[in-house]
Amino acid sequence: MNPFEILAVDSKSRARRGRLLTSHGPVETPVFMPVGTQATIKALSPDEVHALGARIILGNTYHLSLRPGAQRIARLGGLHAFMAWPGAILTDSGGFQVFSLATIRTIDEDGVTFQSHIDGSRHRITPESCIEIQELLGSDIAMCFDECTPYPVTRDYAKASMERTVRWARRCRNAHTREDQLLFAIVQGGVFPDLRRACVEALTAMDFPGYAVGSLAVGEPKEVMLDVLETVVPDLPHDKPRYLMGVGMPEDLVEGVWRGIDMFDCVVPTRNARNGMVFTSRGALQIKHSRYADDPEPIEAACTCYTCRTFSRAYLRHLFMAKELLVYRLLSLHNLHYFLTLMESIRDAVMRGSFEEFRRQFYARRCVEEP
Ligand code: GUN
Ligand code: ZN
Repeated sequence: MNPFEILAVDSKSRARRGRLLTSHGPVETPVFMPVGTQATIKALSPDEVHALGARIILGNTYHLSLRPGAQRIARLGGLHAFMAWPGAILTDSGGFQVFSLATIRTIDEDGVTFQSHIDGSRHRITPESCIEIQELLGSDIAMCFDECTPYPVTRDYAKASMERTVRWARRCRNAHTREDQLLFAIVQGGVFPDLRRACVEALTAMDFPGYAVGSLAVGEPKEVMLDVLETVVPDLPHDKPRYLMGVGMPEDLVEGVWRGIDMFDCVVPTRNARNGMVFTSRGALQIKHSRYADDPEPIEAACTCYTCRTFSRAYLRHLFMAKELLVYRLLSLHNLHYFLTLMESIRDAVMRGSFEEFRRQFYARRCVEEP
């Protein structure tokens, strides 16, 4: 049975409103998944993240297998029990992290050998071991082990790496045994439309329950990313969820949904919060700016989050300047609230048939000067 149900489709764009059934409950789409790389959404407790409305978060195979180890997490009851997260979890395969974090890696047809960014120890991940790790973690959605291509790369490089990603996807599918876990494939092929199309054709022939688009937001211009989505999405099966990996800023979520994306993940709301950047409907602001030193207003007057109901910009700026730990929690809370309510508004708009109007107002509200 297809765990993905489409509840409404937009008439002006490729946007859809859907529901993905996981072993840890339904996930309403389009959805933003907060990133919990090390089995924690940094600075927040799982009950806070759940209270913000998140029903699915992302975990990282690469980090968790190096520390504290997948076998250990399995002995402690799996990732949900280990971190006390009641909702769904998607684990990324490590295909991205091994290329961005590990040192001295060598790729061969069988897998990747690399040195840990933590202690320099040597490790090897193959498609089969990657699936074994994700089955030990017990995530609701596992990702195929892929090769993420940097930007820019030559066509030859992108082609070889896409073809290997397809061969590895087949091995992942053959190795995968857990029936309570969905296995998604990842479309590669860099910025080359014919390579992306060939990858989609090969992967859809294997009939996965969901498809991700990888190697975007890796330094290419925004228009290039949107062009790749316009190439890839129409060829993906209509009735399967589509996941844009590692994206993005609020406007990327709006544009991704417009082009038919159902799922997103990104460190932006939480990482930027720890750097003092907060998101509002009028754009982002830097809380450390001296103009907020005497500002009694909340980050955003209309925001209903705990931070905005309780604290002034002046107080938050003071905490940030003093590097007080509370500020990381308060700004993370606000930013995740902003991202999750943005997605909720998008879902409502698609459901009501007013997404085109929503998108127009989203841009109209933003201003070039400080909010
Ligand atoms: N996160 C962002 N991009 C990618 C990608 O291309 N592959 C994987 N596995 N994770 C990602
Ligand atoms: Zn707020």
